[in-house]
Amino acid sequence: MSNIEAKIPEYFNGVGYAKEMAGLPLQAIRVPVPKPGIDEVLIHVFASSLNPLEYKLAELNFFGRTPPVILGFDIAGVVVATGAHVTGLKVGDEVTAMADCNGNGGWAVGGEGGYALAREYLTVKKPFSLSFRGAAVLPIGFLAAFLGLYGHVKEGDSVYIPGGGGGVGHLAVQMARTLGASLVISSGGNAESRALALASGAHVVLDYREDDVGAKVMALTDGRGVDVVFDLTYSESSFVQTAELVARGGIWVVLGVGPGRTTRRAVTESPVNEILERRGAAYANANVLRFYTDPATLDDKAKSLLQLAMKLSMEWAENSLVVPHIGKTIGSTTSEINEELQNMKSGKAPLGKIAVIVDLRSAGTERA
Ligand SMILES: NC(=O)c1ccc[n+]([C@@H]2O[C@H](COP(=O)([O-])OP(=O)(O)OC[C@H]3O[C@@H](n4cnc5c(N)ncnc54)[C@H](OP(=O)(O)O)[C@@H]3O)[C@@H](O)[C@H]2O)c1
Repeated sequence: MSNIEAKIPEYFNGVGYAKEMAGLPLQAIRVPVPKPGIDEVLIHVFASSLNPLEYKLAELNFFGRTPPVILGFDIAGVVVATGAHVTGLKVGDEVTAMADCNGNGGWAVGGEGGYALAREYLTVKKPFSLSFRGAAVLPIGFLAAFLGLYGHVKEGDSVYIPGGGGGVGHLAVQMARTLGASLVISSGGNAESRALALASGAHVVLDYREDDVGAKVMALTDGRGVDVVFDLTYSESSFVQTAELVARGGIWVVLGVGPGRTTRRAVTESPVNEILERRGAAYANANVLRFYTDPATLDDKAKSLLQLAMKLSMEWAENSLVVPHIGKTIGSTTSEINEELQNMKSGKAPLGKIAVIVDLRSAGTERA
């Protein structure tokens, strides 16, 4: 049984895919507003953000869902209904959440908001000082950076994070500093992304297209290598390069399914394990999606970690420790969403995060 107080429509016009593995463009699809399960809240979504996950799901449908699937898993808005076991949130709370990525998200056309379910442990109250737009760009990117760095970066560590101008990368660079790293090295493929990595707090930012990255990282660490590598590039050639840069006793953390599997379409041979073994370095995998592909991993410990990450995302943003850079804000129309997902896919996306205003009345209409 749910506690429902607000007036909720029966249907809304979501944005997603109606056919398996059809890829872009997404389309508007009329779907019923879902009812919360016992540990879920129903959120009236005011703002959201874009992640590569959305175009990848449209192309590969790798959770095996039966369409229609509504996308937009980063959400900020107001709780309009709660499940029977939800104790920490109530109707009317302003929140930020990550919707289950093997479920539906909250993008909707029409400017009156979407509706999405989120687990209580993936939902956090939004501080008054953060806008819905500012909060909505955090969940997936922050969770990815957090799973990659929290518990791995210690006070005084040296860290290498390639791609510090990306959606996850610029948050990860700030997070490494917040966790006490004394040397953060990053990289970028163009002047703008390198500038964002630098503004995010990296001590040194290399040009991964022109520089001899390996030689420079070694020179910066007196030939030792870094204590922690967090490779979020989904690039096999980067994996091979960055695995060679971990110090003995250090750790190489990869975001996603890891070496040999980045496309999800085929498994290829990768020398990364061998390199790490030779260097006496550990391997770790950070993957927000793992909790959905392998639900057994979503135990109480994992739920507490995710809840901690969601709380810290708000706290650190409020205290200016990890602040998302919003490179562009778009309206929640199929054409704007399709255009920016296509840009993201071809590596032409604006820097940092792209925010989506789903409810024009409540989230503001500001454009960054
Ligand atoms: N499984 C998970 O839990 C999870 C969660 C979140 C994201 N992801 C994945 O993580 C990846 C990054 O996500 P995002 O939102 O940050 O995407 P994004 O905003 O498109 O950023 C991609 C970044 O990768 C950098 N890059 C690409 N190749 C590189 C290389 N060889 N060396 C150094 N940097 C390189 C790019 O740098 P330049 O622009 O400077 O070239 C850019 O900064 C995506 O594939 C996404 O699907 C996975």
